[in-house]
Amino acid sequence: MMDFSKLKPARDVAIVGIGSTEFGEHWNKSLRELAGEAGSKALHDAKIDPEEIQLLVGGNMSGGMFVGQEHGAGLFADYLGINPKPSMRTEAACASGSVAARVGFMAVASGMYDVVAVGGAEKMTDVSGETATSVLAGAMDQENEAFHGLTFPGVYAFLANRHMHEYGTTREQIAMIPVKNHKNGSLNPIAHFKNKITVADVLGSALVSDPLRLLDCSPISDGAASIIMVPAEKAKDYSDNPIYIRASAQASDSLTVHDRRDITTLDATVWAAKEAYQRSGLTPKDINFAEVHDCFSINELIAYEDLGFAKKGEGGKLIESGDVEIGGRIPINTSGGLKAKGHPVGATGIAQLYELVEQLRGEAGKRQVDNARYGLAHNVGGSGATVVVHILSNER
Ligand code: COA
Repeated sequence: MMDFSKLKPARDVAIVGIGSTEFGEHWNKSLRELAGEAGSKALHDAKIDPEEIQLLVGGNMSGGMFVGQEHGAGLFADYLGINPKPSMRTEAACASGSVAARVGFMAVASGMYDVVAVGGAEKMTDVSGETATSVLAGAMDQENEAFHGLTFPGVYAFLANRHMHEYGTTREQIAMIPVKNHKNGSLNPIAHFKNKITVADVLGSALVSDPLRLLDCSPISDGAASIIMVPAEKAKDYSDNPIYIRASAQASDSLTVHDRRDITTLDATVWAAKEAYQRSGLTPKDINFAEVHDCFSINELIAYEDLGFAKKGEGGKLIESGDVEIGGRIPINTSGGLKAKGHPVGATGIAQLYELVEQLRGEAGKRQVDNARYGLAHNVGGSGATVVVHILSNER
C-alpha cells in the first residue's frame, strides 16, 4: 500500500458550522424541507448568510427512487438561497454524505473555494418497507446479488455467521452492540429511537435474516445534516471553537461479497483507516471516540477490528469489556449510531461528523466524552465497496 504520510493538502480545513434535523419518520416534511432545515441551522451556527457560500456539495443516495426527485443538490441550493453558486450531488450508497464531505474538503484544501456548504439528506419513509429494501439493494451488484434475491440484511447475516464460525463470536456479544447504541440514543435529542433495550429484547425480536433480528438492524429513516467548511487560517473569523479535519480518506472494494478475500473483514475499512492514520500521523490508540457504521450490529463489531481498536477476532471481547461505552476507553457511537440515531442513508456520513463536532466542542450534553481531542468517523457504502474515514480534532 502506498504511503500517504508525505501527501499534504495545500491548506488545512476547519468546520465552523453544523446543523441537523431530528432523525425519524417525518410525515410533514419533504426532502427539500429536511435539507433546508439542516442547511439553515448550519449557516446560523457559522453566523453566515447563504450568499457567502461559494459551493454546495450534497450527498443523496436515491432521491429518485424514494421520492422521485433527482438533481437534489440543485434543489437544495435553490431552496437555501445559494444560487448562482455551483452545486453538485455525490452518490456512494450509504456513504454518499461522507463522499460529499470529502469533495468539500478537497475543494477548500486545494484553494478552489473558501466557504463550502456540505450536506446529506434522504427521505426513505414515503415508500413501503418492501420498496425501501429493493431501493437499498440497488447499491449491491444487481446481476450477481440482488437479482438472486439477496438483500442487505442477508449480506450482513453472511458476515455475522462467518465471524461467529471463525472466531467464536457469540450471538449475545453481537446483541450488546444495539443495547449500547439505544442507551446512547436515549441521551440524544435528535435520535430516531430514544428507547433503551436489553440483550433479551434483541434476541427475542423478529428474525430478519438469520442470525440478525429486527433489533440488530438500523431503521428506515428520514433526515438531513449539514456542515460548513472554511480554510483553517480563516476559521476564527467564523467560530470561537473551530474543529479541524485532520484526515479525509477513502477506499474501494468489490461490490459483490463473494469476490472478497475474507468476509469477516471489510478490507476497504482497513485501507481507508490506514490512509487516515498516515495522513493524520495518529494511531488507533490516539483516537478518543468514534462514530462507526453499525447498519447491522455485526458491522460495528467488525469495524472495531478493522479500525484497529481491537485485534482481529476480538471485537466480541471489546464490547463485553465496556470500553466502548460512554465513560470507557474508546466510546463508540455516542450519538446512538445508525441503529438508534437512525440511518437516512445520504445524511448518515454528515450526521457522524455532526456528532464528532458536538463532542469536540464539548457540547454533547449527557453524551459528552471527557477530554475529547481526536474523533474518527467511519462510513460504509453498500456492504463495503466504498468506505470513508475522517479524523477530526479540536486542535489544528
Ligand atoms: N429497529 C427497531 N425497531 C424497528 C426497526 C429497527 N430497525 N425497524 C422498524 N422498527 C419498528 C417500527 O418502529 C415499528 O414499531 P411499531 O409497531 O411500534 O410502530 C415496527 O418495528 C414495525 O415497523 P416496520 O416499518 O413495519 O418494519 P419492517 O419490518 O418493514 O422493517 C427492517 C424492519 C429491519 C426490515 C427495516 O428496518 C430495514 O430494512 N432495516 C435495514 C435498513 C438498511 O438495510 N439500511 C441500509 C444498510 S446497508
